Amino acid sequence: MSNLLSTSQERVYFKDLMSRFLFVSEGWIEAYTPGRTAEELTGKTDFDVFTTDHASAAFADEQEIIRTGVPLVGQVERETYSGRPDAWVSTTKMPLRDERGEIIGTFGITRDITAQIRAEQGLARQAGELGAQNERLRELDRLKDEFVALVSHELRTPLTSIIGYIQLLRDERASGLDTDHFAEVIERNAERLLRLVGDLLFLSQMQSGRLALELRDTDLAGLAAEAVEEARPEAARNHVDLTLSATPVPRITVDPTRIAQLLGNLVSNAVKFTPEGGTVEVTLAADDGEAVLSVADTGIGIQATDRERIFERFFRTEAATQRVIPGSGLGLTISRAIVDAHQGTITVRSDGEHGSTFTVRLPLAPEPLALARRAHAGRSGGASGQPARTVATG
Ligand SMILES: Nc1ncnc2c1ncn2[C@@H]1O[C@H](COP(=O)(O)OP(=O)(O)O)[C@@H](O)[C@H]1O
Ligand SMILES: [Mg+2]
Repeated sequence: MSNLLSTSQERVYFKDLMSRFLFVSEGWIEAYTPGRTAEELTGKTDFDVFTTDHASAAFADEQEIIRTGVPLVGQVERETYSGRPDAWVSTTKMPLRDERGEIIGTFGITRDITAQIRAEQGLARQAGELGAQNERLRELDRLKDEFVALVSHELRTPLTSIIGYIQLLRDERASGLDTDHFAEVIERNAERLLRLVGDLLFLSQMQSGRLALELRDTDLAGLAAEAVEEARPEAARNHVDLTLSATPVPRITVDPTRIAQLLGNLVSNAVKFTPEGGTVEVTLAADDGEAVLSVADTGIGIQATDRERIFERFFRTEAATQRVIPGSGLGLTISRAIVDAHQGTITVRSDGEHGSTFTVRLPLAPEPLALARRAHAGRSGGASGQPARTVATG
């Protein structure tokens, strides 16, 4: 028995009532006190070998076994105390009895189960990853459903209108009436379709990380003026008073097409969510190293609970859908992505009753390092000295 244990690779020990070693196996020595002999260890305790914390815990366990006679079976612990890389072990400790059955100490066996634990951890991690992947697939599936519902409505409405007005155009032309109005409606609806298709394309590029910024030295006031002029016909139709007040801001390096798109989204939202007689005010100013663009309206407002959600894909407030105000719920998602790509921020303020104010802050001097790094990732060689730089986003 003694031979078997001493040559066993298992970590086995016997201890007396005071937890002093009576015997330790070769496997035990190799694991915890390489180079020492079983004789040297006889009479020593865990306190001579391990940290005080571990030795005290083991001592308490052993005294409990001696007091109750109840073994401790398969206790899994992490070994951080053996002076070797951390490992997981399973320990079983039992009372040691003499011929008469009296408890005279403890007997223990410890087994390295690091490989097993690592495998279990690996499996758990994989299960977690699969779960997350599954969740993403579900989310995609939900988006697809939303997308189909949206597209069937958002594509059909303008198309129905276009076809209807073309028919009218044909009829009225026969009777020689002024047809400008019909052409205008057709054009507006065709533009709405074009915008939707453009937004969807933009979104898919955004999601696949293929979006690139063409950075140029830009006059923001000019962009703001253009955005306001573009929205003016719609504002006039809705009887909304649209104004621009711009104080001079330094020229700024941005992607002018994207910033125009961002402004267009915010201004057209403000105009369409503001009832007759309301006002929309676009302002531009410089503040603390940033260009600050804001679009304030006196429209239907946004409930506090919706103020974060409006930036989600396809999200539209109930107020918007109930009033049958057209839209796809993509504008603000895209706007936020554009602002992010420029290292800026977009926030919304609304008292839920008397209109909303969207504020975009763009750094006048964005971190050159970050821009350079991004430019590099976007297109090799897109360095300074060229009129436009490409910035990868996504
Ligand atoms: N100026 C605003 N006033 C009130 N609600 C707004 C305003 N701008 C955006 N919203 C709300 O946020 C939603 C998302 O906006 P957006 O992404 O531009 O989608 P869309 O304009 O196609 O509805 C809108 O449907 C609307 O509910
Ligand atoms: Mg919009």
